[in-house]
Amino acid sequence: MREVNVVVLPGDGIGPEVISESIRAVEIVAKDADLSITWREELMGGCSIDVHGTALTDEVLAACQASDAVFLGAVGGPKWDTTDPSKPRPEQGLLGLRSGMQLFANLRPVKPLEALWDASPLRRDRIAGTDLLVVRELTGGIYFGASGRDGDSAFDTCTYSRAEIERVAEVAFAAANGRRKKVASVDKANVLESSRLWREVVTEVGARHPEIELEHILVDNAAMQLINRPSDFDVIVTENLFGDILSDEAAMITGSIGLLPSASLGTGVAGLYEPVHGSAPDIAGKGWANPMATVLSAALMLRYSLGAPEAADRLENAVAEALNHGAWGRDLGGELGTTEIGDRLCALLAR
Ligand code: IPM
Ligand code: MG
Repeated sequence: MREVNVVVLPGDGIGPEVISESIRAVEIVAKDADLSITWREELMGGCSIDVHGTALTDEVLAACQASDAVFLGAVGGPKWDTTDPSKPRPEQGLLGLRSGMQLFANLRPVKPLEALWDASPLRRDRIAGTDLLVVRELTGGIYFGASGRDGDSAFDTCTYSRAEIERVAEVAFAAANGRRKKVASVDKANVLESSRLWREVVTEVGARHPEIELEHILVDNAAMQLINRPSDFDVIVTENLFGDILSDEAAMITGSIGLLPSASLGTGVAGLYEPVHGSAPDIAGKGWANPMATVLSAALMLRYSLGAPEAADRLENAVAEALNHGAWGRDLGGELGTTEIGDRLCALLAR
């Protein structure tokens, strides 16, 4: 038995519901892979603000830094919404983890299953064959630049260094190498200086990977092309804010944001894994949330941080098979609830 430590941060809203269903499924495949996972549950987000007055305590950050992986549900909700800069916000916990663990590359794969092609708001012929990966820079740019208020004005600054661009670009080219060997770098180089540096550095990194085809796309055009010709994209690499927006847009190609996993990786093997959807406070506690995005995030965790790629494949196959057999949550217009989907997955995995 190999032993690993995972910090679990269920968070707020539907977070705890989707996390507990996912852990059930992970336990089945981990056992078969001879992997013993110690789950250490901690507070992060709004639930931590309620208890400790801050979204992420130093103790929880230290536990995450010392872990093999962090498994996160979702954070946030109207209870903690505020525009007062002196008040704590749940999202600060997530941003603190990203920077505290130096998770500079966020990977969001988008691959709609054929069974779901009609669930997408896009026509079948547009989405057929789509299989793309958004690689979003996660610890720089406007999210972490100087910001503040000055009388009646407010400012946020977007700064990027060569090194920050280079390391995330390397992740994108390495990923493309195992895929269709195409990278689309998204920027706003016709207006922003940080984007001109981005384009310059990505071009340099691209020159070191001559087997990969590189194209540069302006972000407004990229937003349009994602809808117009999603299947043309392979790896999309972009800065933090553009990646935030484009990855939600790309998620809708699958018909539901309830199916999208993500992995946030740094220099080591420890990473943070979370569904792309948020805490969905409107349906929290109703048992309606689709745990599939979280199960798929657990698959990424098994593959990238816990060294159990076969277990990861099994989880992904179970989700695909369940969907092919009509196990659709409400997010897809189906009727199954959180535990029912969990039951279906566990039944498939236990065979
Ligand atoms: C995401 C989320 C976060 C972000 C929020 C919750 C801070 O939208 O992970 O995409 O903007 O990065
Ligand atoms: Mg987002």
